[in-house]
Amino acid sequence: MCGIVGYVGNEQAAPILLDGLEKLEYRGYDSAGIAVCQDGKIKMTKAKGRLKVVGELTHNGETLPGTLGIGHTRWATHGEPSDVNAHPHMNKENSIVVVHNGIIENYLKLKNRLIEKGYEFVSETDTEVVTQMLDYYYNGNPLQTIIKVMHRMEGSYALGIIFNDHPHQLYAVRKDSPLIVGKAKSGNIIASDVPAVLKYTRDVYFIENEEIVCLTEEDIEIFNVDEEIVHKESVRIDWDVNAAEKGGYEHFMLKEMYDQPKAIADTISPRIKDGKIEIEELGLSDEMIRGIRKIFVVACGSAYHAGITGKYVMEDLARIPVEVEMASEFRYRNPIVGEDTLVIIISQSGETADSLAALREAKGKGAKVLGIVNVVGSSIAREADSVMYTWAGPEIAVATTKAYSCQLVSMYLLSMKFAQVLGRITDEKMLNLVEDLKKIPDQVELLLSHKERIQKFANRYLAAKDIFFIGRGIDYAISMEGSLKLKEISYIHSEAYAAGELKHGTISLVEDGTLVAAVLTQEDLYKKMLSNMVEVRSRGAFVLAVTQEGNDEVERASDYVIYIPNTNKYFTNSLAVIPLQLFGYYIAVGRGCDVDKPRNLAKSVTVE
Ligand code: M6R
Repeated sequence: MCGIVGYVGNEQAAPILLDGLEKLEYRGYDSAGIAVCQDGKIKMTKAKGRLKVVGELTHNGETLPGTLGIGHTRWATHGEPSDVNAHPHMNKENSIVVVHNGIIENYLKLKNRLIEKGYEFVSETDTEVVTQMLDYYYNGNPLQTIIKVMHRMEGSYALGIIFNDHPHQLYAVRKDSPLIVGKAKSGNIIASDVPAVLKYTRDVYFIENEEIVCLTEEDIEIFNVDEEIVHKESVRIDWDVNAAEKGGYEHFMLKEMYDQPKAIADTISPRIKDGKIEIEELGLSDEMIRGIRKIFVVACGSAYHAGITGKYVMEDLARIPVEVEMASEFRYRNPIVGEDTLVIIISQSGETADSLAALREAKGKGAKVLGIVNVVGSSIAREADSVMYTWAGPEIAVATTKAYSCQLVSMYLLSMKFAQVLGRITDEKMLNLVEDLKKIPDQVELLLSHKERIQKFANRYLAAKDIFFIGRGIDYAISMEGSLKLKEISYIHSEAYAAGELKHGTISLVEDGTLVAAVLTQEDLYKKMLSNMVEVRSRGAFVLAVTQEGNDEVERASDYVIYIPNTNKYFTNSLAVIPLQLFGYYIAVGRGCDVDKPRNLAKSVTVE
């Protein structure tokens, strides 16, 4: 999604804006632009395509001198990607300039009113409406004007705004789109996400909904809509700056796959004490856990897949009914939740618009909401009743790997904890599970070390048109993730099927040479899966099998086998996902795709 950056200080703004926007590139975008104010004159450069186009057009910012500026990477929503639709957007007099992340839902109504008043629009964007409204209501007082405009806008926004008659002030405001403020030595910075400011500061303020920020070189003032000052503590970001860099790897995705052993260990270790699961931040007493009658896991994309795995584990271990639902569905269907329902929202970014709306829906109905979130201080983390962080560190590649792996182990930890409290697990079984859990990081490391083998195999399928992933039970959950990973970065059509469902239609698509990736790690479903593999193979499919060591019989029912180390039946997804991630990655690399920034996708989906 769009990224915004703004700077006011004693250094040249343009290079800082370009640098910050580069750090936000991972969010996904199709055009970019910057505007800088010097001596009350605002100049801007914007262009369709990559940020480097703006860098070239401005000679890395040299042609836009000035120490106050805003910048933007745009992910098109209203109007095609083009120079004119790119942000920033200025009013006719070039006195007000705006960058925007989000969607103004009532923009057409507002636009028509402005047209009636004689305003002309040059772009198709909803953002230009914001600029023109600021122009219309401007009374010389930026704060009052912004508040007036806020009252008229419906939708979501994080805005960076400059008024040329306040050439030392940078304004910003947010509603349902992320916005942070960083306090640097040379000045102050706004951004959509922490990586954009890390080079300059580690002290950031998380801006809440309907707060307005006024930055000068020295000061940060935060106001509410009643123009009252809001006092806020800054948060120290203790990430290693390198965590948001590629560190010698060809792509962030590859680096992040390699981060997985540490990320998983960091997520697990603080929660194991004396062979038992202790999740201090859970915010649920044992009594409360005993009172839970139903769990909803609500999420999007890969986080949703982690929820499906979680359902299998939680229901089997703790015997609590679990329903897993896509946030975009849950939020609009009046779900039946009450005080005895726990709603778990899983999200890497903590800013996904649908997941955030689902959280509010659940809270509004009286449910207790637990967030499983990666980005510290994000909206979902702040609005949930309690939050269990996944300690994956910053994830930059659009295709999630390490955050997903941490979401999986978080769901295992929760299931084990609930089973423990409900007395549904013996001490001996718990000890065995804890031992297996602790082994996952090393087992993942081992699987990663076999990457060349998977690369070789992937290279044979670069021209594939369709690839199917099949599995049963928990292996169906990982098939969905394997399929998504492949299609989102390689653009090869792919579907995941519960293997038993194939014969109800899909098997008619299997023809000579169709690649079917079959995951079979569950002992009780092993024979059934073997039959399904034979079924597709006898119709011409080439079968790639992912199974546990020792399942030698699989060799006879498949054409290529990848073995994962042995673990108990609940944790196999954490291991099976590694070859599937590598497979998707190497197919995408081999096809020359932009692995870290796949077309049409955004890392943080902050609009519906
Ligand atoms: O930030 P979130 O975890 O809420 O994001 C959810 C999905 O948008 C995300 O998992 C998406 O499906 C990824 N591209 C998958 O790799």
